[in-house]
Amino acid sequence: GAPALPRSPLRRTAAEAQPHVASPQRPLGVTALPAPRTSHETCERSTNRAVATSPQRGTASSRNPQRSNCGSSGGSSSAPAQCSAMATQRGLGRLALRCHQALLAAAPPAKTSAAFSATSFSPLNAAPAGKSSLKARLPANWACVRAFAEAAPPPPPPPPEPKNPSNILRGLLLGSIAIGGVFSYALFHSNMPQQGALATGASAEPKKDYKAVKDAILDMLDVEGYDDGSYGPVLVRLAWHASGTYDKASNTGGSNGATMRFSPECEHGANAGLAKAREILEPIKRRFPWITYADLWTLAGATAVEAMGGPVIPWRPGRIDKPDSSHCTPDGRLPSADKGAPHIRDVFGRMGFDDREMVALIGAHALGRCHADRSGYVNPWTNAPTTFSNLYFKELMETPWRKKRWSGPLQYEDPTGQLMMLPTDMALVWDGKFKKVVKEYAGDEEVFFKDFAAAFGKLLELGVPFQAHAAA
Ligand code: HEM
Repeated sequence: GAPALPRSPLRRTAAEAQPHVASPQRPLGVTALPAPRTSHETCERSTNRAVATSPQRGTASSRNPQRSNCGSSGGSSSAPAQCSAMATQRGLGRLALRCHQALLAAAPPAKTSAAFSATSFSPLNAAPAGKSSLKARLPANWACVRAFAEAAPPPPPPPPEPKNPSNILRGLLLGSIAIGGVFSYALFHSNMPQQGALATGASAEPKKDYKAVKDAILDMLDVEGYDDGSYGPVLVRLAWHASGTYDKASNTGGSNGATMRFSPECEHGANAGLAKAREILEPIKRRFPWITYADLWTLAGATAVEAMGGPVIPWRPGRIDKPDSSHCTPDGRLPSADKGAPHIRDVFGRMGFDDREMVALIGAHALGRCHADRSGYVNPWTNAPTTFSNLYFKELMETPWRKKRWSGPLQYEDPTGQLMMLPTDMALVWDGKFKKVVKEYAGDEEVFFKDFAAAFGKLLELGVPFQAHAAA
């Protein structure tokens, strides 16, 4: 069977962390957020309990029907069991891969091949979460599936040559001439600069295996001792800040270029704390030197959302790294947290987003926390900061937020003082048009996931000239 996957050390699932007012089990004033640095053991228990019993969230497979569909593609009876077990664990990408492997092992090749080849490959064709069967989603995510589906059947083996002694002798003679030739050529050229026929092989483009990069990102996400046990949130923020500098009018900024590597962009106030995110991706960059920073950062953000239980984000490679700081964007393109709805519309409108997309994107504040030494704000938005969910919207709608009394910047707190909202977060319920969308997302997580996947995928591609690079 498939090897057991490591469990994400979730501190608290969204099901256990419902907003104060809404939850009859959680009276006001109860400190819901566990102490930092929760052990893996505690987290595993809470994850299992929530997945098995939560009426709010349902099991992973009931929330996302495609997660339990594996068996319908012709796999053996063990394939669905493996799939649903895995659905309770890591992100869907890993699940999809394992399910795919299980299916390949179990299904008759002809049937599997026909099923997969029915869907053309394009990462942007990735179906929205919760809407399609796993079978339909696998080909959209993994090039290996496409290769499997599209591979021509192997040619029939050549008819065996009649064996006679003179043929064998001739073969031996030709073989030793060939080996001798290659050997002396290699000796002769061993001290020469690489060029010509031998060098062509050595310097050929490495195989760009993005799935291997994605797996490496998945492997490094869970980290005991860092914030709430995951690098996921800070990687989502890196991908967003690398992309959110886009200006539609001048077609400048955006993820293409990875200009946050350079001063002054890396020193812009909004990017405080993102050196950590860039630093933790360095070992992956060293392992896969062919991937550009711009692709790596955006892939890391998309992978993190998925791994923390969110939707699959459509992502495709093709970004380049600009060579120097001359392409850095001016300071002030990212939003300021101390402003209201008009500022949100200015900043996100400049990138080309509408009201609905703005609300969906800011819903990423279900994840992570504020840090006094980065933004000056403190605390997380939800009690499940390593689970992607619609909890941020529920908190916004249902919690009685009040101004925090302290010497820091203006922020809002819940009655426990453990959770927070920024002024820009509150603007989403103070503005009538935004509030309508907040309410909708608070009541329907599936719609939020679908809208977030589309908006975040769009954000990561702003200003990226994919066609030009594909042709180059
Ligand atoms: C009005 C728009 C936004 C404002 C003003 C804003 C502001 C902030 C601030 C002040 C922090 C705290 C940083 C720190 O102290 O570490 C933060 C964190 C975060 N933001 Fe936003 N943000 C906005 C939109 C977004 C969007 C669109 C996304 C993603 C799609 C996003 C994702 C995150 C995440 C995941 C974190 C947590 C990072 C961590 O835990 O290290 N934010 N944001």
